Amino acid sequence: MNEAFDAVDVISAKRDRTELSDAQIDWVIDAYTRGVVAEEQMSALAMAIYLNGMNPREIARWADAMIRSGERLDFSGLSRPTSDKHSTGGVGDKITLPLAPIVAACGVAVPQLSGRGLGHTGGTLDKLESIPGWRADVTNEQMMRQLEDVGAVICAAGSGLAPADKKLYALRDVTGTVSCVPLIATSIMSKKIAEGTGSLVLDVKVGSGAFMKELGQARELAETMVRLGKDAGVHTVALLTNMETPLGLTAGNALEVRESVEVLAGGGPGDVVELTLALAREMVAGAGKDDVDPADVLADGRAMDVWRRMIRAQGGDPDAELPTAKETHHLLAPADGVLVQLDALAVGVAAWRLGAGRARKEDPVQAGAGVELHHKPGATVRGGEPLMTLHTDEPERFARALEALEGGFTIAPEGSRPDLPPIVIDRVS
Ligand code: URA
Repeated sequence: MNEAFDAVDVISAKRDRTELSDAQIDWVIDAYTRGVVAEEQMSALAMAIYLNGMNPREIARWADAMIRSGERLDFSGLSRPTSDKHSTGGVGDKITLPLAPIVAACGVAVPQLSGRGLGHTGGTLDKLESIPGWRADVTNEQMMRQLEDVGAVICAAGSGLAPADKKLYALRDVTGTVSCVPLIATSIMSKKIAEGTGSLVLDVKVGSGAFMKELGQARELAETMVRLGKDAGVHTVALLTNMETPLGLTAGNALEVRESVEVLAGGGPGDVVELTLALAREMVAGAGKDDVDPADVLADGRAMDVWRRMIRAQGGDPDAELPTAKETHHLLAPADGVLVQLDALAVGVAAWRLGAGRARKEDPVQAGAGVELHHKPGATVRGGEPLMTLHTDEPERFARALEALEGGFTIAPEGSRPDLPPIVIDRVS
């Protein structure tokens, strides 16, 4: 095939801070997907973009070209409006589990295409796979049927959606080009727009356990993604939310499922309930359903009902006992006082080292492994009492997990008042 451009010219243009034309962007994404642009050439281009950025037109075209690299789902035949949520990932972020059934119980269809965990943040599919029998893989036909019958499906994204991103994300992962706003925004939004949801809520996390450590960076990412969504005709809003400390009291697969079920049963930690309802209200409003309050369907058990049907529809047993780790170890509070700081990254890395997460895509995860917190920042603690419990099947993992937690929490003298930031920091629309 006669190629329209030469990859070296496209790379050199971006290296020299020249804007890429629409035709150059269309070609480079298509040629990379076809294997004509080599991995080393795309690495060089990704690095040039990382260093020199892209303007809003280039970003929009890049996202569009990635969407056109694969199939697009179409939910217009469903009897309900659709809404989806994307989280940029955090520690103890089990929000999708209670959120999808809550929103479905409000009359909105939730096609939640999710991923597995890599590094210190957990993956929704890994969490749900700790439920005996539950399967992540569903066909497009099964997804449609489940959305119509149950209202919510949480499943693995098929390989047909934005295949250019699949290749490029794997490449960025090994070339130091992940943390770049134009590349993150186009990666996330190409998949979400190709998925075909009518409205989208983005949970952009900020803090030590998040991709984005600084509020300014997170806001820029949120604004870029909201613009891409709106330009594609998807009703899109973003919440900037706190990830300085873990969400809830658990980080780890089965531990987080248990906590999610507690939320659906009307209990659970306050921060998880607050963030779940804030996101649910945005999703329900974005889908045009203004007459129903997500708090009502949570309180009267309708959301729990959808959860049970959603798990069953994918082969899972909602009544089965969840796996537990073979070994536990208590980390004791070193002194009396007030827990004023508990670092999300430290807890996330500890859970990962205990076996809850994976270092490489092909690694297995332990369903029962993770960290269970006994206190949140602001609590009064007693020296010698458990601050957290570590869970794993392999006790030799405790030492490295404890190392990760060194310096990860602060106990101040009694009477201290920690400055606790709100869960929802801001809204971008
Ligand atoms: N998640 C994605 O899907 N892509 C990124 O680039 C970063 C996070």
